[in-house]
Amino acid sequence: MEEGLSSEILSNPQTEYTKLLIAAVPSVETRGYRLSSIKREKLPERPQTFGKLLIEAKDISKTFDGRHGSVVRAVDHADFELRAGQTLGIVGESGSGKSTLARIAAALIDPDDGEVLLEGDKWSGIKEVARRKRRHLIQVVSQDPLASFDPRYTVSRIVEEPLLSELSRRERRKRVQHALDLVRLPQSVYDLSPRQLSGGQSQRIAIARAIVTQPHVLVADEAVSSLDVSIQAQILDLFADIQAETNIGILFISHDLGVIYHISDFVLVMKDGRIVEKGTPQKVLVHPEHEYTASLLAALPKLPRSSVLQGSNN
Ligand SMILES: Nc1ncnc2c1ncn2[C@@H]1O[C@H](COP(=O)(O)OP(=O)(O)OP(=O)(O)O)[C@@H](O)[C@H]1O
Ligand SMILES: [Mg+2]
Repeated sequence: MEEGLSSEILSNPQTEYTKLLIAAVPSVETRGYRLSSIKREKLPERPQTFGKLLIEAKDISKTFDGRHGSVVRAVDHADFELRAGQTLGIVGESGSGKSTLARIAAALIDPDDGEVLLEGDKWSGIKEVARRKRRHLIQVVSQDPLASFDPRYTVSRIVEEPLLSELSRRERRKRVQHALDLVRLPQSVYDLSPRQLSGGQSQRIAIARAIVTQPHVLVADEAVSSLDVSIQAQILDLFADIQAETNIGILFISHDLGVIYHISDFVLVMKDGRIVEKGTPQKVLVHPEHEYTASLLAALPKLPRSSVLQGSNN
């Protein structure tokens, strides 16, 4: 489409295509705007205050047995809260404990110490039967959706799966239709196998399947990490739209600081299982107090991108 010196292409791209690719990179500048457009379209306004308390994690710790009899402190005395309509971003290097914290929040594993409450009631450290009735309230979207789909099933069957046995057939159809509409998948894919779809479409199916039970909490663990930047942009816009429409609380995990800045209302930075810094994205990722956060920021490559976005004046 275009070729030239990297500095020139990046600061002054000539084709719409390159402009779109550059505009899709999430950063401090893109917050509040759609990433999948170069027209500086605003995302739905973020609420000033958030809704009811969905998840309270109090003083959570979790260790695993490591190699040669060592002990890995995967999560070490972590506290956080998630409210309705809020996106809580968790960032940190590989092995810092993000997924372990997410799995504890979703009650896929129990903490060794501390407790998790879901809408005020005990969620960790109880029998699975005691959780079953509330399971639909919290859903997980992970990095590799294809691996979790049954290849024999069609798209609509995959999305319907979490609903089976619970509701009437008609009600299930309605919910599946609504979920597929919300993730903007066209009817033409409903009867296909997930293997016939692209990575971006697969991630839309995973999100549809997660929201079909009308959960109050969505846990997205590196949910955009394997997508290229333009598809990632569409999926990040989609999360914002779904949240504006459903007021869902999102626990959003990523190792990508730009993504975390773009999407989060509140940020936790993890290192060696501990939350070393927390606050608004502005405070944490623009004016960090902790040297670990500062070192993550210093390692971030910068794009000369402001000339790309229409409506920006430099
Ligand atoms: N089931 C397990 N058994 C043993 N050790 C584990 C287990 N799960 C996680 N760990 C260890 O706990 C630590 C935290 O892992 P975790 O997967 O939570 O990190 P992460 O921040 O999600 O990393 P990544 O960015 O690579 O996904 C790591 O040292 C990991 O090796
Ligand atoms: Mg992880």
